[in-house]
Amino acid sequence: MAIPRSFIQQLLLHCDIEDIVSSYAVLKREGRNRKCLCPFHSEKTPSMVVYQDTQSFYCFGCGAGGDVITFIMKIENLEYVEAVRFLARRVGMEVPDEVDHDRSAFLKSRILEINRETARFYHRVLKTPLGQNGLHYLRQRQLSDKTITRYGLGFAPDGWDSLKKHLRQKGFTYEEMYAANVVARGKNGNYYDFFRNRVMFPVIDVRGNVIAFGGRVLDDSKPKYLNTSDTPVFKKSRNLFSLNFAKNTQKDYFILAEGYMDVIAVNAAGFENVVATLGTSLTSEQARLISKYAKEVVIAYDSDGAGQAATHRAINLFSEVGLATKILKMEGAKDPDEYIKKFGPLRFERLLESAGNIVEFELNKLKASCNLEETDGKLDYIRRSVGILSSIKNRLEREVYAGIVAKETGVSQTSLISQINAAIRKNQKKEEQREWNEIQTNKKVATDRVNAEKIRFLRQALAEEGIIAFLFRNPDYLEYILSKIGAEDFVTTFNKRVFSQMVEKITENQEISLSMLTPFFSEEENGKISQILAKNSGERQTKKLVDDYIDVLLEHKYSLKAKDLEQIDLDEIEKFRQLKRGHS
Ligand code: UTP
Ligand code: MN
Repeated sequence: MAIPRSFIQQLLLHCDIEDIVSSYAVLKREGRNRKCLCPFHSEKTPSMVVYQDTQSFYCFGCGAGGDVITFIMKIENLEYVEAVRFLARRVGMEVPDEVDHDRSAFLKSRILEINRETARFYHRVLKTPLGQNGLHYLRQRQLSDKTITRYGLGFAPDGWDSLKKHLRQKGFTYEEMYAANVVARGKNGNYYDFFRNRVMFPVIDVRGNVIAFGGRVLDDSKPKYLNTSDTPVFKKSRNLFSLNFAKNTQKDYFILAEGYMDVIAVNAAGFENVVATLGTSLTSEQARLISKYAKEVVIAYDSDGAGQAATHRAINLFSEVGLATKILKMEGAKDPDEYIKKFGPLRFERLLESAGNIVEFELNKLKASCNLEETDGKLDYIRRSVGILSSIKNRLEREVYAGIVAKETGVSQTSLISQINAAIRKNQKKEEQREWNEIQTNKKVATDRVNAEKIRFLRQALAEEGIIAFLFRNPDYLEYILSKIGAEDFVTTFNKRVFSQMVEKITENQEISLSMLTPFFSEEENGKISQILAKNSGERQTKKLVDDYIDVLLEHKYSLKAKDLEQIDLDEIEKFRQLKRGHS
């Protein structure tokens, strides 16, 4: 770790966790702590808690957690050292010089150079005999030379080492190429080109860096598209294809398409405000990213079943980040690419203009199914439209539609609005109950990936976590705890590691913060540590409680010994009895 610890401690004094988190999420007070919608997964009721006392956050929904540095690493997609720098910049502190030699920053810059060189290579190949098939394919799909150049499209030759050789010649190491995911590694350790015999689509971020590639086969073989997996410069859940163009448009809405070819076709037809996800379904991070640039999204997914299911998912994610959504209904074509080819850009523009507002769309559908001439039909229409309108996030918009329904049915707008509000409250309660039930039934415990032994030793693991949390808040109790148990008495390996690190840190510093532990654990493990602190917070943290926890571990220890009959050690058992008496 290149940054001196003293600097990090100084930095943490200046970065209050509430302050930092509040620039990404709306915090609501709850007792001593704050709660918010978790920015790391999609949810409707807040389950992320920000703790003032431990300067940590933890999401009861998805398990994300850590200190302020971990938070920035996750949300800004940065490495540890970069997150420290990011925070330092924010509070106006100067990071000591050594940081500049940081290795991970160096690797990132090498990967970006490799990606740029790779994109150039693939693009150049397109115009050589080696790339003939690729060029032919793109032309056959009616891409003009201008579009090919604009998107920097290319071709990965059908061999095992043309790119590898080229990059080697440019001075890149195989390890660097592998880190960039442009070469793969075989079982016997040799490297070979990752993309072969595919037309190539470079993915470019808003700063103009080539961060990844998608490659399409020329025939019907599988997989149709191969995408760069996550690398130090690329997380597919946080990026969008063609955002580099879309972000520059004057329009206040984005078109969201399903794939590379759709985006390119829409862009080439004159609509640059189009993006696509990269081989995955939309994530909440991508929805948030779009909301930085646009007020509204027109979803132009394929008209097949999968596309429609994805549309529903996307609508929810967008509404959570406050983006209005419309749906493009393409009749006579399966996707925008085909639609534009069949009917031309002008028809596509008209289609965009007529894109349905979801609420109107659903209200119309509902109205068609109810007979408003009859009382029953009218009541049914009112009841069900209240359901539809209660899903609108924006109050003003809700009121406008309530006005329309009021006119249609002759009910007063005020009474409709109060019905809608009641429905909203009921939904919220239901949702909260559902999320709470999920936490209670402890689905999360059953799938604890960090501490896999927890299922087997649930009681002991919970006791260990209690001890960890207690010690965290009361480092002055270290000596007392160590007088009764040691790290070797911890049953689960992960908790043992955490406890050992804490003992070491407290012994060195006489104090403890999450940030002292961060570097020794993976992102997921840090999340788990925050979870332990979060689940064991509140008024119940007494010495009596920690004594009970210690007993659980001691009982386990002695019962293990007792199992082995020859090893019953009366002295030890007596020692245990005394210990138990000692702290009551
Ligand atoms: P589609 O199968 O709809 O492909 O997948 P497409 O975009 O219409 O492509 P063409 O027109 O047949 O060339 C939509 C998107 O899903 C991802 C890609 O991003 C693709 O553009 N995908 C699809 C993959 O990542 N891998 C695959 O094997 C298939
Ligand atoms: Mn498609």
